[in-house]
Amino acid sequence: MIFSTMEIEVKGHSGCQIEVVREDGQLFVDKSSRDPKYLDRLVRQAEKQLEASLPEYQHIRIPKIHKIDRTDEMVNVRMDYVYSRNFVEFFEQAGFEQVGYLIDALKMYLEKEIEQSLITTVSRNIVTEKFEDVKKKTLDNKHLQNDTEIEAIIERSQAVFDHLPDMVIPVGKCHGDLTFSNILFNGNNYYLIDFLDSFIESPLLDIVKIRQDTAWLWSQLMYVNPCDTIRLHIAFGKIDNELDTYFSSRYEWYNRYYKPLQLMNFLRILQYAHEPAVIDYLKRTLNEQLQEF
Ligand SMILES: Nc1ncnc2c1ncn2[C@@H]1O[C@H](COP(=O)(O)OP(=O)(O)OP(=O)(O)O)[C@@H](O)[C@H]1O
Ligand SMILES: [Mg+2]
Repeated sequence: MIFSTMEIEVKGHSGCQIEVVREDGQLFVDKSSRDPKYLDRLVRQAEKQLEASLPEYQHIRIPKIHKIDRTDEMVNVRMDYVYSRNFVEFFEQAGFEQVGYLIDALKMYLEKEIEQSLITTVSRNIVTEKFEDVKKKTLDNKHLQNDTEIEAIIERSQAVFDHLPDMVIPVGKCHGDLTFSNILFNGNNYYLIDFLDSFIESPLLDIVKIRQDTAWLWSQLMYVNPCDTIRLHIAFGKIDNELDTYFSSRYEWYNRYYKPLQLMNFLRILQYAHEPAVIDYLKRTLNEQLQEF
């Protein structure tokens, strides 16, 4: 029985349908898509979530996947329903101590991913090819055309990636879209959903994604309801500072490659941007980042 079709408060991209269903007295979430473009992606996402849910993490949990049904027309993924708050509800209520628990849990989760990865040389070509693709899509995007600011951003980014060496970074484990919109908050336990393939399967890209929110406030921009921005900024500032200090004191690969990969991360958002407010935000963010090279 369909219990409710969920109202989504943070905008996703795929337009998947999310329904809460009750069966034998238990609640599940069915995430489904009929969009041919997203069928494979949704299957891979569910398989990644399934694999990630096998090891145990402290305070970080992953909803159990019960089944992945696929036909030619649609995919439906059934997982445990998590009774939870979204990130805004969490941060509006949380005290500093609770924010501290979240930071510890994130550090531990990322450390586990690093442990399960191997230090690998990633050819600079992977990044430069990605950049060429992003550049083409950006310049083809009608909302970004004939815009000198965008052209300057692309040109300055080109210079950054032209100088990027092969990167020696951990490769192996990665959530792929570790933003606050994909974390469900339940007391001091945090549930990760919405796994995604990453162009490099590296824990460094998960750090990039979480800092997309803590340093650059992306999920807050995507949040459709009013919220206490001052309180959120204080919490995000604390998380960002602690994560950055922690990883920069431990890992040279973080110090070397965080910035170019964060730049690439935002360029990949830019290529599909179409809303004026989002485009303005991205220009500001990218210009600020480019000043650091
Ligand atoms: N297992 C779950 N338990 C409770 N709520 C869930 C669960 N899975 C998803 N939700 C709710 O649905 C929302 C959207 O889920 P999800 O992040 O998987 O989709 P999306 O962001 O719309 O998709 P995509 O990023 O693939 O476009 C979540 O923010 C949460 O409110
Ligand atoms: Mg999501």
